[in-house]
Amino acid sequence: MSDSKCPVMHGAATTPTANKVWWPKALNLDILHQYDTKTNPLEADFDYREAVKTLDVESLKKDMIDLMTDSQPWWPADWGHYGGLMIRMTWHSAGTYRIADGRGGAASGSQRFAPLNSWPDNANLDKARRLLWPIKKKYGNKLSWADLIAYAGTMAYESMGLKTFGFAFGREDIWHPEKDIYWGSEREWLAPSGSEGSRYSGERDLENPLAAVMMGLIYVNPEGVDGISNPQKTADDIRVTFARMAMDDEETVALTAGGHTVGKAHGNGDASQVEADPEGAELEDQGFGWLNKTKRGIGRDTVTSGIEGAWTSNPTEWDNGFFDLLLNYDWELKKSPAGATQWEPIDLPEEKKPVDVEDLTTRYNPMMTDADMAMKVDPEYRKISEKFAQDQEYFSEVFARAWFKLTHRDLGPKVRYIGPDVPQEELIWQDPVPAGSTDYDVDAVKAKIAASDLTVSELVTTAWDSARTYRNSDKRGGANGARIRLEQQRNWEGNEPERLAKVLSVLEAIATESGASVADVIVLAGNVGIEKSAKEAGFDISVPFSAGRGDATQEMTDDHSFEVLEPLHDGFRNWQKQHFTVTPEEMLLDKAQLLNLTAPEMTVLIGGMRVIGTNFGDTKHGVFTDNEGALTNDFFVNLTDMSNSWVPTGRNSYEIQDTATKAVKWTATRADLVFGSNSILRSYAEVYAQDDNKEKFVKDFVAAWVKVMNADRFDLV
Ligand code: HEM
Repeated sequence: MSDSKCPVMHGAATTPTANKVWWPKALNLDILHQYDTKTNPLEADFDYREAVKTLDVESLKKDMIDLMTDSQPWWPADWGHYGGLMIRMTWHSAGTYRIADGRGGAASGSQRFAPLNSWPDNANLDKARRLLWPIKKKYGNKLSWADLIAYAGTMAYESMGLKTFGFAFGREDIWHPEKDIYWGSEREWLAPSGSEGSRYSGERDLENPLAAVMMGLIYVNPEGVDGISNPQKTADDIRVTFARMAMDDEETVALTAGGHTVGKAHGNGDASQVEADPEGAELEDQGFGWLNKTKRGIGRDTVTSGIEGAWTSNPTEWDNGFFDLLLNYDWELKKSPAGATQWEPIDLPEEKKPVDVEDLTTRYNPMMTDADMAMKVDPEYRKISEKFAQDQEYFSEVFARAWFKLTHRDLGPKVRYIGPDVPQEELIWQDPVPAGSTDYDVDAVKAKIAASDLTVSELVTTAWDSARTYRNSDKRGGANGARIRLEQQRNWEGNEPERLAKVLSVLEAIATESGASVADVIVLAGNVGIEKSAKEAGFDISVPFSAGRGDATQEMTDDHSFEVLEPLHDGFRNWQKQHFTVTPEEMLLDKAQLLNLTAPEMTVLIGGMRVIGTNFGDTKHGVFTDNEGALTNDFFVNLTDMSNSWVPTGRNSYEIQDTATKAVKWTATRADLVFGSNSILRSYAEVYAQDDNKEKFVKDFVAAWVKVMNADRFDLV
């Protein structure tokens, strides 16, 4: 008998969102509306960052250490120790972080979801998370998956003899995969460079912001570039990809060697027998993937990467064994039982060979991946390797710090760190900002700003530019610290250096006279400007303000690491440094997402900023009003007015004509007109164009503005 017809709306549960299929180029506004409260099973008022403060860390620590050696028959621990597996899980969770957009990383627990839970490189990490489940179950809401995954590797190192640098809790879980992260365009796992949608162009230029060489890998191909062994070429790939994770050469060697000081690679079997990844597995597999139902498939018969063997003689101990074997012996290319290319030592003394994971009386050759050999072959990496080889204490110290950076880089500044093991030391990559004062007369500062000869546009623009560097992805940037007045930011083209210098000289003087930080005064300047422009529109308002921002110094600022925060486009100020392959409206959406704005917030900010007159270079695109400087809803009124016609005049320019007379009334860019053309954005534009919503427009604009100004005020919550 054939199956009867679908009783449920033609399979809406599994068919791809139909609009995206029909109109693939439509803006994906969903990226602004992730993690809706409806997707979160916890109470509406549940605050993880408060809850984790009540966690019994000492008890958790003991449970974690016990877990490392509590081997389970369904996934036995190699040599009775889960340390290697746990560390690889933690590293793969943190290692998706990339500096270009701050996305990826350990801070959300996203490894539980696709695509990450099923990336080929994450094979068998489902087992690591399942091993942690009893601990998650026991500590419940007080311990997020994100924190637990980051903590597991750290505790594994502790249990194997490394003194770690510290640990901070505070990573809040998400409840569905991120929608905003671009992982690449390839349609095939592990597609080599040159295949369709390849991320490489030119000599070997890796597409930004990507930080892995292939779809489905965390970093580089362990068997060599496109699977062809060549440690020097692999070294070149490692240097690029690790730099995109904010690691320098020394940190890179420390991490790779320190990672492979413990644990092993798994390839003792037939890779073709490994079944589907977790997302594609059968229902009865219950979220487990990569099963081998034809063979034992566990313990010494596990196939994960396909490479087989440990790196060191004592793979459950933190020691110098990696460098000992790598540097003191010669290595030759071999094949693992699963057919992967790997390096094996020539004439390694028997007692230096690691024992079998189950039978401690049998010894096998260790191995090195191409990436490990890169630490010996690349001249710079080799110098560092030799230094580490001779000084175990130094190696341990550099590794511990790099591991801490790896696992905390996307957690944000130190004020967000929670728990008893937070290191005291201030680190430059945490972008430190000293505490600011609240003990000054805010109204007096505002009065001084208002009495200055700065224009509303100058006031609002400067405040925006100071705050807009914030990105919620890794919680860097923002108005706090007033880094806009430091090198290089004060010279960024997008900050209009001349205008900025003029405004700053006035605001800095006011700050000095009043005892307020420059950071606070810049934000107050924006408030004064908005209050003035609201008044022009007939609304007497006071923009909420929270004092207490501090001023960072040049010494507290790693210039180089701030380069990635330089705006190359800003639709809010109707500007892009040059034409890019992506459209201005896509870039606007991306920026709005990084600023943690909703689509209505993005809409109202654009409408308000246009009429206030905050465009880069004082252009008039999108300034659809005869009353510039007044916070009216004119942008939306004129955008939705059918007496107007919109005529393209260039790649990113339009004229707005009076349909009847053909007289040009205004000009616009795509970042303006998208609010009339995209059906969802138009629905918001209509709300703000309505006669009954003039006041709502001002109210919503102010709320969105304050949200941006306070985006980095982690001290306020
Ligand atoms: C395991 C590659 C960097 C920690 C592995 C495996 C491969 C690999 C192929 C074997 C997986 C398996 O078959 O079970 C690489 C490459 C790297 C890199 C290409 C980039 C240069 C790192 C880093 C760390 C790390 C930075 C941590 C700091 C580990 C650990 C294991 C492992 C602990 C052992 C897992 C176990 O015992 O089950 N790595 N790795 N790796 N990796 Fe890496």
